[in-house]
Amino acid sequence: MSAKSRTRTPARELLFGNLWEYDPAPETASPHLQDRYTLFVNGKWVAPKTKKFFPSISPRNGEILAEIGQAGAADVDAAYQSAAAAFPAWSKLPGAERGKYLYRIARLLQDRAREFAVAETLDGGKPIKESRDFDVPMAAAHFFYHAGWADKLDCVMPGKKLAPLGVVGQIIPWNFPLLMLAWKLAPALACGNTVVLKPAETTSITCLKFATILQEAGLPPGVVNFVTGAGETGAAVVNHPLAKKIAFTGSTAVGKGIQRALAGSGKKLTLELGGKAANIIFEDAAIDQAVEGIVNGIFFNQGHVCCAGSRLLVQESIASSVLQKLKIRLRSLRVGDPMDKNTDIGAINSLKQWEKIDELVKTGVAEGAELYQAPCVLPQRGYYYAASIFTNVSLSHRIAQEEIFGPVLSVLTFRTPEEAVEKANNTPFGLSAGVWTDKGSLILKMSSELKAGVVWANTYNKFDPTSPFGGYKESGFGREGGKQGLLEYAEMV
Ligand code: NAI
Ligand code: MG
Repeated sequence: MSAKSRTRTPARELLFGNLWEYDPAPETASPHLQDRYTLFVNGKWVAPKTKKFFPSISPRNGEILAEIGQAGAADVDAAYQSAAAAFPAWSKLPGAERGKYLYRIARLLQDRAREFAVAETLDGGKPIKESRDFDVPMAAAHFFYHAGWADKLDCVMPGKKLAPLGVVGQIIPWNFPLLMLAWKLAPALACGNTVVLKPAETTSITCLKFATILQEAGLPPGVVNFVTGAGETGAAVVNHPLAKKIAFTGSTAVGKGIQRALAGSGKKLTLELGGKAANIIFEDAAIDQAVEGIVNGIFFNQGHVCCAGSRLLVQESIASSVLQKLKIRLRSLRVGDPMDKNTDIGAINSLKQWEKIDELVKTGVAEGAELYQAPCVLPQRGYYYAASIFTNVSLSHRIAQEEIFGPVLSVLTFRTPEEAVEKANNTPFGLSAGVWTDKGSLILKMSSELKAGVVWANTYNKFDPTSPFGGYKESGFGREGGKQGLLEYAEMV
């Protein structure tokens, strides 16, 4: 670079701009995929009675990774029969023995962490650094944590014992496939239940690979059964008469339908649905930290996060400087191949989800909000979306009300804490919120007035197996994690 051009380049461009390009840093470990996966029922691989298979596509490039068995009602029934047959022995095992299986599962997952991270990234599109550093270690942490509870269930509620429910049906989404599997399986098994679980149709692979960990761990056949397929298979899981409880994570529309279907059935139900969280920045906050929190809040996992901080509420006095810093920061986010270790924003999970995001972004523009997208070159193949920020957003805009589930932030401003609370709570959802301020008293005020299951203070998207997670209002009910999460899989006797 000549001395002349150096003098013309602002310092931040030198640090963050396009002048310095990273070399590719591809992850090369093998995900050890099979061409075709059948169902996992009664400890064995069984072909679907439907004889049908569907492709699992990598959103990274649109290529088919594997064929996945499509379970029909008869397959779901076989899975429930096997779980029911396994229940008496599993539930009567001493808790310490069940705990040993869970410890073994956690350790085996740690042993194969890299392989699972690669499979998760290929099938779902999330950056390898996230599946490697977040999804897989957190999934293992949930098994370790619940292994510790298995022999201490009499200590959860003083004076009460916990008894398992029986066979539970579980349906999980595609945004954190392995982690949601761990959130659901670990407490169910620790309490002595047996399980029929259905992963999401775009991300079945890590679930099916996980079956091999259960086999290696010597888990008795039938304790965990995996049925794969789309909504129809999910409905068969929900409506099976042997299910004592249904645990669902996914869209609010499907969650409402499940609640209607189960009304009067006596089945226990927990729903973890959508969100439209406010991330609230006060003028006395540490701004650079808050900017990192905003970025993490909305761009983590391409924004496919139910608790994503998708509505930024920033105090008017600092709005322009926060936005300026945010736009500069956005230019340094690397959008592209999720298998590259330097990628910050990977591929959108499916074409269907890409189209939903794009439709909402176009609506935002049509409704009069102002769109900023950081300049970037998106890969030619695969489903990618540039990091997007909307300003001039009003509360009535669809982009301020609906869950976009993509890398799109809507920015609103406020003047007083009261106005921030009113705007934050002006949503049918109530899953999470973030508060950034130097004042402890303001944190306490906000966290007691915000109608959200989780309120993060001066941080965002922090998770821990010991901490209960769940929502209010249309974000669902029931908690996952911690003691509260155990109680969702047990009866007190
Ligand atoms: P979805 O709710 O259809 O999918 C979630 C799971 O439910 C999948 O395993 C699916 O096969 C299953 N399912 C679908 N229909 C079912 C039925 N009738 N009975 C039982 N199970 C059924 O979500 P989708 O269509 O993939 O995503 C649409 C929107 O939902 C996203 O854009 C996002 O806004 C939201 N969503 C929220 C999630 C969360 O973590 N809260 C996760 C996934 C999606
Ligand atoms: Mg896929």
